[in-house]
Amino acid sequence: MIDMDAVIKHNPLIPVVVLDDAKDAVTLADALLAGGITTAEVTFRTAAAAEAIAQMSQHSDILVGAGTVTNLEQARTAMRSGAKYLVMPGYDQDIVEYCLANRMPVLPGANDASWIMKAANSGLGYVKFFPAEASGGLPVISALSGPFPQMKFVPTGGISPDNLAKYLAHPQVSACGSSWIATRELIAQRDFSEIAARAAAAVKIAATR
Ligand code: 3PG
Repeated sequence: MIDMDAVIKHNPLIPVVVLDDAKDAVTLADALLAGGITTAEVTFRTAAAAEAIAQMSQHSDILVGAGTVTNLEQARTAMRSGAKYLVMPGYDQDIVEYCLANRMPVLPGANDASWIMKAANSGLGYVKFFPAEASGGLPVISALSGPFPQMKFVPTGGISPDNLAKYLAHPQVSACGSSWIATRELIAQRDFSEIAARAAAAVKIAATR
């Protein structure tokens, strides 16, 4: 089974990042590392994504993932650029199969039983529960945990310092994703000390679980 264990083991919080300029990638990685986070999900929401992944993947201490992957071409680009795992907002069987064939850990989005069944039946052990808060949050995760006791959830969408601990306390929540640690604005302002501080704050919250 291809799973996300290596990504999640040391990172109960995965920063979802939007980089407008690839030249910020390594500085951002350093800021996250300074706060104790060793991964980043670089989203395919800007033209800089592939180059940002390529630059960040040169940094040996950070595990760089590709996020907001919505088609096969992006999946191929992500792999060529050096991404170590791939995250989708929804479920796409072609992308899942491409990742399985290439031994690339993949985290598909799923917020209902049908999509979770597709993930489970493809041999995946994790899904991104997205959009977490808008989909009903923890009560929905608890309800879905009943029929899928083996499935691990990575809630993303509306995760903040206020609800992170509650999500992480759920036995089937392995990690959460959030843009709060390194917002697009903080990156654009090059406020990397605030990003490091937020990473450290998130690590501290996660340590309480
Ligand atoms: C994502 O792409 O995973 C979400 O947009 C992140 O959600 P957030 O901005 O609410 O953290």
